Amino acid sequence: MKLKNKKAIITGGGKGLGKATAIAFAKKGIDVAITGRNEKILKETVAELKAIGVNATFEIFDVGNYEEVKQGIKNIIATLGCVDILVNNAGIAAFGSLNEMEVSKWTAIIQTNVMGMYYVTKEVLPYLIEKNAGDIINISSTAGLNGNANTSAYSASKFAVIGMSESLMKEVRKNNIRVCVLTPSTIATDMAIELGITDGNVEKVLQSEDFAQLIVSALELPRRAMLTNASLWSTNP
Ligand SMILES: NC(=O)c1ccc[n+]([C@@H]2O[C@H](COP(=O)([O-])OP(=O)(O)OC[C@H]3O[C@@H](n4cnc5c(N)ncnc54)[C@H](OP(=O)(O)O)[C@@H]3O)[C@@H](O)[C@H]2O)c1
Repeated sequence: MKLKNKKAIITGGGKGLGKATAIAFAKKGIDVAITGRNEKILKETVAELKAIGVNATFEIFDVGNYEEVKQGIKNIIATLGCVDILVNNAGIAAFGSLNEMEVSKWTAIIQTNVMGMYYVTKEVLPYLIEKNAGDIINISSTAGLNGNANTSAYSASKFAVIGMSESLMKEVRKNNIRVCVLTPSTIATDMAIELGITDGNVEKVLQSEDFAQLIVSALELPRRAMLTNASLWSTNP
């Protein structure tokens, strides 16, 4: 598929995997709307995207707040005119035993990673259905394939992302909408470094741009072909 002049929305696009994906998209000529809660990093990233030569914009909203999501997506569509690609990337993580993690923290992980993805998808989907074309890429995790001690909230959220994505894929392929769920292992971003699960060694550990390359490759498949899921691991961390 030719990507030039397509329009994409990337949640959590100001930094980490979302930012790397936004930059990879811009290099392919895709106009990008990025979202998040931190205005400063969103503005800086939009400036970088514009310098590459595409239209870029940002919207500030909490993906876990449905009223904010509705308004934010409406504003993006008013600016971009339409949307072809949605990358549901925004997410949070925290580790701790089910017994000890505070209810508010456990709930926030589900609200952001699951409800946030549902709210954004629900608001964007009608535009893709109307076009009878589109791509939705949802970011899960290897933690969405296996539970481990101290990952109950994060694993529950990322398992849910896989289930939601598979159901949606089966609902909307008849509308020529491709739905893909990705399950990356540890990638050197603020999230992974703050969780203490990697030192981010560039020689060894997956970098955000590696992940962005996988997303671009999935989108470039002919429209008759749909990558439904994929894992990406460091070769020898
Ligand atoms: N890094 C890894 O090892 C790894 C592995 C597997 C899966 N993942 C998944 O990949 C995605 C991106 O992670 P990352 O490593 O790039 O993390 P990151 O650097 O911490 O970035 C997370 C992004 O999500 C946004 N975000 C978080 N909560 C939000 C909310 N309530 N509303 C709106 N935006 C929100 C943040 O924006 P603001 O701060 O501006 O709100 C930020 O742009 C996540 O879904 C994560 O679970 C990461």
